[in-house]
Amino acid sequence: MCFFLISIIYFCYNHKRLTLIENNFILAIESSCDDTAAAVLNNREVLSNCIYNQNTIHTPYGGIVPELASRAHQSKITPIVNQALHEANIDKKDLNAIAYTQGPGLLGSLLVGSSFAKSMSLALKIPIIPIHHMHGHLLAHFIENNNYESPKFPFIGITVSGGHTQILYVKDYFDMGIIGNTLDDAIGEAFDKCGKQIGLSYPAGQQIDELAKTGDSKKFSFPISNLKGYNVSYSGVKTAFLNFIKNQEKKSPNFISENLNDICASLQYTLIKIILIKIEKIVADLNVSQIVIGGGVSANSELRKQLKNLSSLKKWNLFLPPVEYTTDNAAMIGIAAYYKLMKKRFGELTEICKPRLII
Ligand code: KG4
Ligand code: ZN
Repeated sequence: MCFFLISIIYFCYNHKRLTLIENNFILAIESSCDDTAAAVLNNREVLSNCIYNQNTIHTPYGGIVPELASRAHQSKITPIVNQALHEANIDKKDLNAIAYTQGPGLLGSLLVGSSFAKSMSLALKIPIIPIHHMHGHLLAHFIENNNYESPKFPFIGITVSGGHTQILYVKDYFDMGIIGNTLDDAIGEAFDKCGKQIGLSYPAGQQIDELAKTGDSKKFSFPISNLKGYNVSYSGVKTAFLNFIKNQEKKSPNFISENLNDICASLQYTLIKIILIKIEKIVADLNVSQIVIGGGVSANSELRKQLKNLSSLKKWNLFLPPVEYTTDNAAMIGIAAYYKLMKKRFGELTEICKPRLII
């Protein structure tokens, strides 16, 4: 009798944890870098996707200050989660799981999101789901609200962000291997660091994109690295760009202001060309025609245009994320969590954040 009662209590306690119901509500938290983000999903549908962007905090320093990022996450995480629940019109008691970014990212930033998620999971007695940030960038293409059909496996995944430039062979949602990587800087980092040299504020990617629209991309030329195999390198172009700017400024102190649009267009052309060369090579070598792009730099209008042109020329099936899912957001963490929830791949409260989490 006693055993029977204990079994019933145990079953009720774990009921929410173990049962997969049709309408799963997932709260997702993304805090890997400098965006405090929360989203609510109903299965694959995004009900809310809220972001507090810390740019104004880091801009005066020309890059992210990790300590300031953690502090900002701490002060913004509660309001952002409340806003996401409010906009989704969901009470926290209706949640079935809480997802958070486990890595890669800044440790202090990751800790805020993971601790918050773990506390909520304990209080609400629902599972937590740790997510790899880069899985999120790629799986954003499986969000139901997107107005296109999701990619089919296998596909070539390309992640272009401030911290990554990776080419992956993706066999399934969580079964993927890196086939190409940057050996040094990420493409977004190259945008940001070169932008800083010409007086643009952090992050410079979007500003370069805008300024380049009225510039001549052939006006200045910078080295286009083309390593053997599928790896890329951005440190050479970055150094060449810095030296070029210094030399030109010595000759003409107003060089930057007089040529800003052309400088941006020429730089952008080079940064994009480096990754496009590899994409073309990989598609030809592996004979996989589905190309799935993710990460902040996939917001770049020229990259999008050139990829679309190449796709129609070469008959690729190209997947570009909607712009709201290009830079860091929590909806992408939520969709990755949905697929883990379907497989009951939950996390443990004892699991740690991993700043260098590998795929
Ligand atoms: O994915 P993301 O939000 O954060 C990381 O995971 O790193 O990417 C941020 C990066 C920054 O380097 C930013 O300059 C770049 O994405 N970025 C862009 C554009 N929008 C954001 N780069 C080029 N063109 C853009 N329109
Ligand atoms: Zn990212």
